[in-house]
Amino acid sequence: MYTVILLLIFSYLFGSIPFSLLISKSFYKIDLREHGSGNVGTTNTFRILGKKAGIVVLILDMMKGAIPVWVAMLVSTDIDFPVIIFGVVAAIGHVYSIFLKFKGGKAVATGGGAILAANPIIFLILVTTFLITLKVSKYVSLGSVFAAIALLISVMFTSDPFMIGFGIILGIIVIVKHISNMKRIKEGTEPKITFM
Ligand code: G3P
Repeated sequence: MYTVILLLIFSYLFGSIPFSLLISKSFYKIDLREHGSGNVGTTNTFRILGKKAGIVVLILDMMKGAIPVWVAMLVSTDIDFPVIIFGVVAAIGHVYSIFLKFKGGKAVATGGGAILAANPIIFLILVTTFLITLKVSKYVSLGSVFAAIALLISVMFTSDPFMIGFGIILGIIVIVKHISNMKRIKEGTEPKITFM
């Protein structure tokens, strides 16, 4: 029980680390929250700081979701142990960061990392959904929302009640965090990507 509580605290604190903000402030001397969409996530890092910083933040933010799941897998001897919980708690840390007065990002990369570690097949489905939507629409946010919808559907095909429950929580968080993006798409003010 103590191990589970310690792992939950670790997952939340690790997920709370705002890597995009740390990188933007340390190496580029800017506050990412004051630029672009103002989001402390991978997309806004690509948008404002460029490809190199974007890739680094994508990897670090994904690891925030994946590492707690992998640690839980190592610690647990029970194969049915619901490791997805720790990845989703890390994603919650990313969205409601203790280091940012409980503000944060939109849980896409960190949630994606959690799914990668917990269920690589579902992760592949989500990445495929994201890339197809991005290719067709040129909106990263729409790709994220469609991937979240794909998550809600995919988890229904697993027989793991924890994967279903926590997958639904993660999917809903991602969709709710993108309401402002969806409004911008409707108004025609959401930026499109130019490289695909
Ligand atoms: O990962 C978040 C992405 O879907 C949207 O980011 O910065 O355009 O709000 P942003």
